[in-house]
Amino acid sequence: MTTPIEIRVPGDKSLSHRALIFAALATGRSRIRDILLSADVQSTAGVLRALGVAVPVLGDDITITARGVRAMLAPSIDLDCGNSGTTTRLMAGVAAGCDFRTRFIGDASLSKRPMRRVARPLVAMGARVDLEAGDGLPMVIHGGALQSIAWTSETASAQIKSAILLAGVVGGVEVEVTEPSRSRDHTERMLGALGARVHVDGTRVRVEAVNALEPLDVRVPADPSSAAFLIALAVLSQFGPITVPNVCLNPTRIGFFGVLRAMGANVAIDEGQAQGGEPTGSIRGSSSELSALSIEESQVPSMIDELPLLACVATRAHGTTEIRGAAELRVKESDRIATVVSNLRAIGATASELPDGLVVTGSSATLRGRVITHGDHRIAMAFGVLGALPGNEIEIDDPACVAVSYPNFWSDLARARNRK
Ligand code: S3P
Repeated sequence: MTTPIEIRVPGDKSLSHRALIFAALATGRSRIRDILLSADVQSTAGVLRALGVAVPVLGDDITITARGVRAMLAPSIDLDCGNSGTTTRLMAGVAAGCDFRTRFIGDASLSKRPMRRVARPLVAMGARVDLEAGDGLPMVIHGGALQSIAWTSETASAQIKSAILLAGVVGGVEVEVTEPSRSRDHTERMLGALGARVHVDGTRVRVEAVNALEPLDVRVPADPSSAAFLIALAVLSQFGPITVPNVCLNPTRIGFFGVLRAMGANVAIDEGQAQGGEPTGSIRGSSSELSALSIEESQVPSMIDELPLLACVATRAHGTTEIRGAAELRVKESDRIATVVSNLRAIGATASELPDGLVVTGSSATLRGRVITHGDHRIAMAFGVLGALPGNEIEIDDPACVAVSYPNFWSDLARARNRK
């Protein structure tokens, strides 16, 4: 039997963005340990610096001293969000509550992603939002006096929800958001931990007006979306068991692991101590025979970022896997339905698109070919897992794009294979 191996993965991306933003809005000195050091998180740090917040060079243990929810300064430059949708949409909420003009820009992929979904509620609250190119970036926001809102979102999206909650915090007004199903809830958890009055009722969240937030002292747990790649590798290969310790086990984030188990995978979750209001623990995966499964809309939010990986895993399951109710995949860092299906076909797997999902039939055939990532980190890593399986020969066109969420991915993947 191969010896089990433990691999630590970097800090959670969603929590890292939020830790920086809340530290910047708090009154006093916050401490953040184990923040994710990746390009997307650097984008949030850069935007906050442009708004006058003293964010230091990011490292494993940083402190930020801030002057409160209404202390941001008018920027003298455009706010460059790079590849990061979370930076753009969450900071759009902050900007809506600030009494000045901001202009958001980003890379080619981000510039094409829909922003009207955040502009609409912010306009309803009283901000002026100009989308220069129709629906993407650049986006100009004239913030200021906001009014309270009760918004019903058409999409289960933590980015839309968080934009509204942050606008409420900075604008000093009560806000309520109702979603079709529950998206990740890190923003409301963190707000509650920092002294805001947060009321959650099913898929509705209401945050009362605040004047100040307490500083935070958090250790960011590991990212379940990054752990997912290594656990999938352990399940699909004969390399031996892999344990990823100290992972964020927030129930709105770990749907993928439940689905793997339902497919027959040996995946064990061992819950440990809560950290900064989030449950954490270790996840262990080992070699398994998998059966295909169907995913429906209600399951999508808790595994939205893992669906490209699930499609890759499905190439090795017995039977046909169907993913439906996942049209949101079309507006991620790439059109992830089209990108996944075209790449699966390019390497010899059987897959087809649905308007709101995809269908993959498993086999044990060798997979060979070149993957076009369109600069999408999760496409590179999902296909990287298939490429690490003995016999497969998969070339990734842009391996460096993993830098936005998991800069050491390729060396961790090599460790998992070489058992070192
Ligand atoms: C995120 C929310 C998700 C997810 C993204 C990070 C967040 O987007 O896909 O990677 O940190 O709020 P949506 O909630 O808009 O689907």
